[in-house]
Amino acid sequence: MSKFWGSRFNKGTDALADKFSFSIGYDWRLAKYDVRASIAHARMLGKCGIIPRKDAARIAAGLTKIGRQIEQGKFSFDPKAEDVHTNIQSALKKLIGPAADKLHTARSRNDLIVLDMKLYCLDKLNEIIAAITAWQKAIVGFADKNKDVIIPAYTHLQSAQVVLLAHHMLAYVEMLERDKARLYGTLKRTGRMPLGSCALSGTTLPIDRNFVAKQLGFAKVTANSIDSVSDRDFVIEALSDLAILGMHCSRVAEDVILWATREFNFVDIDWSLCTGSSIMPHKKNPDILELIRGETAKLYSHLNEVLVLMKGLPLTYNRDMQLDKPPLFGSVEKIKDMLGLLTKLFAGLKVKEKAIAGRIHDETFFSVDIMEYLIKKGVSYRQAHDTVGTMIKECVDNGRKIADLTLAELKGYSPSFGADVKALLDPKVSVSNKKSLGSTNPALVLREIERWKKIVTLATGGFARGY
Ligand code: ARG
Repeated sequence: MSKFWGSRFNKGTDALADKFSFSIGYDWRLAKYDVRASIAHARMLGKCGIIPRKDAARIAAGLTKIGRQIEQGKFSFDPKAEDVHTNIQSALKKLIGPAADKLHTARSRNDLIVLDMKLYCLDKLNEIIAAITAWQKAIVGFADKNKDVIIPAYTHLQSAQVVLLAHHMLAYVEMLERDKARLYGTLKRTGRMPLGSCALSGTTLPIDRNFVAKQLGFAKVTANSIDSVSDRDFVIEALSDLAILGMHCSRVAEDVILWATREFNFVDIDWSLCTGSSIMPHKKNPDILELIRGETAKLYSHLNEVLVLMKGLPLTYNRDMQLDKPPLFGSVEKIKDMLGLLTKLFAGLKVKEKAIAGRIHDETFFSVDIMEYLIKKGVSYRQAHDTVGTMIKECVDNGRKIADLTLAELKGYSPSFGADVKALLDPKVSVSNKKSLGSTNPALVLREIERWKKIVTLATGGFARGY
């Protein structure tokens, strides 16, 4: 086809080359940002006297109209126009005539695409932060509703000690807060406005880059035109943040998948997030959670794709960089779905309190508490560990319970034992006796629930200081 930018070409490009290189099939997602960027640019051109003010006003009015069509889904993208920029440029020409030809003054697609991508990232990462906060809110609500429930906790997937279910839930909230902190950091570094770098060296025209930055809500302009058009760090940072966030989604999904098994039997997932089996009528499968776990692989491969894409590129712009878009869009869209589903999951998750209550009385859960009882009486850690280890081994071997040992038998293991040690064989006592900051102590956990409740309801999107 004949080229939009191709006056020096004596031939149209090959049809297969067009099919291979056109990006409109995916970069249409940038249309509303391209319009916003172009309105700001046109206003600047008019203000600086680079184009007549009335042309600038016509361009801005035409673009505003196109922007409205895009928002309403009424803009029809032309698959024969190479990319989002050419699509909008052509539509503007149709709408306002020759004045449209002045829009691309003092800019290049090389700097424009970076600006579009940055505006996209700023928008979407903020939406993702809000979605994380909504999920945190659902988790905190779930923790609050079940704040008295005690569950076995695991290391090596072997039951280890008892904790409050709410304490386990707040672990998720903590890791999500770190995800938000990473995203805020990425937003901060993304917030430098690149337009006006033009192809790579800047322009001889008297532009005002700060004016464009201000209109678009950027605090600063980029400092180096070569870096501006070469940089895709912000895409890689976003993909990296989303890969880590995805890893967290996947680990939560895995916990709930395990907890919903008949073997664990801790929770019931709402039917709306499960599917049946085509052959086994009794099945209720946690497919959605399995797919969240599975899709996380994609989030990692998207990050890897762009890292590899960029690693051998000489400065400045290279067309390879066009291919940063499908992975970025893919990760953004996937993570938003995952966060939405996980929020619904916690809103409808039921705790099987009775089944759990029958599982928290295993005496071995309290071995550390008994050990610390001895330590408090002056026994060394090593001695206490050996004593409790021997006592548990002999009880297990002989089919006995610590609770049934006589005082004489207890004293046989350690003269420091008194009858009061048996009070420790109780899950409620076990959690209450924890004293350290950040532990599963019910008073501390309650305080944490209250702290998080406040954070996740802040209008700012909820962000804890100090992360
Ligand atoms: N579609 C291109 C991209 O996404 C836009 C920039 C093209 N620039 C160029 N000089 N061919 O990177």
